[in-house]
Amino acid sequence: VSQHAVNEKGHLMIGGIDSLELAKTYGTPLFVYDLSLIRERAHAFIQTFRDQHISAQVAYASKAFSSVAMYQVMQQENLSLDVVSAGELFTAIKAGFPVERIHFHGNNKSKEELLLALEHNIGCIVVDNFYEIELLKMLTVTHKQKVKILLRVTPGVEAHTHDYITTGQQDSKFGFDLLNGQADQAFLDVYQDEYIQLLGLHCHIGSQIFETIGFKVAAEKLITKMIEWHTDYGFLCSVLNLGGGFGIKYTEEDAPLEPAVYVNEMIQIVKELVHNSSFKMPEIWIEPGRSLVGDAGTTLYTIGSEKEVPDVRNYLAVNGGMSDNIRPALYGAQYDAVIANKMDLPATKNYTIAGKCCESGDKLIEDIQLPVSEPGDILAMFCTGAYGYSMASNYNRLTRPAVVFVENGKHQLAVRRETLEDLIHLDLPLAMEKE
Ligand code: LLP
Repeated sequence: VSQHAVNEKGHLMIGGIDSLELAKTYGTPLFVYDLSLIRERAHAFIQTFRDQHISAQVAYASKAFSSVAMYQVMQQENLSLDVVSAGELFTAIKAGFPVERIHFHGNNKSKEELLLALEHNIGCIVVDNFYEIELLKMLTVTHKQKVKILLRVTPGVEAHTHDYITTGQQDSKFGFDLLNGQADQAFLDVYQDEYIQLLGLHCHIGSQIFETIGFKVAAEKLITKMIEWHTDYGFLCSVLNLGGGFGIKYTEEDAPLEPAVYVNEMIQIVKELVHNSSFKMPEIWIEPGRSLVGDAGTTLYTIGSEKEVPDVRNYLAVNGGMSDNIRPALYGAQYDAVIANKMDLPATKNYTIAGKCCESGDKLIEDIQLPVSEPGDILAMFCTGAYGYSMASNYNRLTRPAVVFVENGKHQLAVRRETLEDLIHLDLPLAMEKE
């Protein structure tokens, strides 16, 4: 609690603004993004590469949170963009994001999605499988259009929050297996193609990772393969994309490293391996999502009903829940929170924060110490900027929250709140006669 800014009224401040004012102006539940934090994170990644004199692209993995305005922020920060669907690509194009810095991911891109990418001549398609190679060959020949690609490979490295494992063959739906010949076959399929220009290799080893070892092992495996192709076929890959996955601090228990640490260790191992060969230092690309926007986001909820289960717990219900943040219910994810209008009061009572959805699993936080709460208080849940709004649903026909950007005392709506009318927008009345 002590690290949060608090004003003289005892209210939580976000981006130089009283969070109670934000709640009043825009309503709750409300996602609030402090843009200055996002810019800081983006700059840290980019500067680390600059300091090491490494050509790089830092692509925002926009599945973490995508909207027109957020894409425009990422453009301002000179980031590239990772999109994974026609929807994200369309949004990026509408936002005016430079197409040459858009990278398209996905394990089952449709023909229509690939066509949209080709039409807009985006920077690169991260090719996932043999079917996609076939589709791309067909489309590029038909439209006589060139395309730059990376091949996504699974290096047999799987990183989890606190550890990593290497396996001979990774059980993953993504990418070409690096160790059993699939990646070599994919390489042979494309490296001499007239329209397809192979830039290099991509891998993504997991998410919310705290250690560097998994990234290092993956980098080593990919660069080794690139050197091997250079030796065997005289083909020079120019890009090594090591994906995202850098962990953030949701609660006191989390101990992530600084972005620079992950990046420097990757660079180090690549430099070492390249140095001992005739291979040219590739560009290094990364794709952070969570670590760019996660801790910049805070959700404001209004507290309503309370239920005491004697000797067990006190449920405190907020006016959102698994519909705007599925992560606790889906992954057992943990969060920290405060009562935004009682920052000056001691946290003396233990609560379980429940949502308003009609199922028991709709709990946002189990066991948190807060000041004694009453209806109308504003609960601020921290670190909800990644995979919160982007995974939100209309479960129980709840309307999705508004999203607000704040920075140095300024604020603006970035996504308006859904209305009840929005909810029935796609619905059609019953037209068939009852028999
Ligand atoms: N690149 C690729 C190919 C990915 O699949 C992902 C995330 C990223 C980059 C970005 O990873 P990040 O830096 O955000 O960890 N819904 C889950 C996370 C799913 C991550 C999927 N892929 C959650 O809420 O924890």
